[in-house]
Amino acid sequence: MQQIDGYTRLCGLIGNPVEHTMSPMIHNTLAQKEGRNLVYVPFHVEHGQVRKAAEGAYALNVLGLNVTVPYKGEIMNCLKATDAMAERIGAVNTLVRTDGGYKGYNTDMMGLYRALCSEDIRLEGEEIILLGAGGAARAVAFLCASKKAARVYLLNRTLEKAGQVAEEVNRTYGYECVAPIRMEEYARIPSDKKYLAIQATNVGLYPNVEDAVITDTDFYAKIHTGFDLIYRPSETKFMTLVRENGGQAFHGLKMLLYQGVIAYELWNDTRVSEEDALAVYEKMKAEMGIKD
Ligand code: ATR
Repeated sequence: MQQIDGYTRLCGLIGNPVEHTMSPMIHNTLAQKEGRNLVYVPFHVEHGQVRKAAEGAYALNVLGLNVTVPYKGEIMNCLKATDAMAERIGAVNTLVRTDGGYKGYNTDMMGLYRALCSEDIRLEGEEIILLGAGGAARAVAFLCASKKAARVYLLNRTLEKAGQVAEEVNRTYGYECVAPIRMEEYARIPSDKKYLAIQATNVGLYPNVEDAVITDTDFYAKIHTGFDLIYRPSETKFMTLVRENGGQAFHGLKMLLYQGVIAYELWNDTRVSEEDALAVYEKMKAEMGIKD
């Protein structure tokens, strides 16, 4: 590691808990590869201390921060400015130092988009099935509309939540992009074509690795590509069902990689090479015990 000296810049993560994060590996590896005098440290922040943490970090000349659960909404009250997409989504995971305070971004969604691109998965003009209408799914729905997806069938157990997200997204982007459907009524999705399906519920997350929101093979027969935002486990039940029915399936670890890469790029006003990004990805996979 670079010797810490008077010029070392500090970045970090605030959240609660932060102990299991892979972000220090992402940022410290990138800094090392580029010979950049920067260190990245996780900070466990207690409830009610978020504003103090952000102000303290700014006072300490901290270059940038990531923000994780449960503070991605609360942090928005502590910023000098917020990027338009993050504002729409209502969640900020990256703070970039600017004159007079931090500016907030949502690199989770930018990271998802870059992860999809790196697997040659398109959103533009596509017909998409989105599972879930919670915080993560809401952000994905905004991303899809911002990329001019032809249609997003938004499936959620609670129809009202899907309806709210659809209304907001369609109003924002000015076209009938998102169609809300109650989860068990998935048969209403036209069967004359195949879809990209993005799994954005927390069903199937470790340790409930045998769970999937839908298990009916008729549903999976409609999917050509399944992308699960979950990366723990790296093979979710959803992914297995997609594959068993002839589709290709991806876990969410590349989204985690690229949300970090994009934050690093914003902080350092640089562009990370694909080679360096993929070298970090190999380390992340090794840490997770993923072999492929
Ligand atoms: P996140 O921030 O990860 O998106 P969230 O906002 O709590 O978390 O959203 C969780 C999502 O998973 C919601 O879409 C939720 O469905 P409801 O809106 O009906 O609650 C979905 N979800 C969680 N447990 C579920 C279950 N057992 N079956 C179906 N959907 C479930």
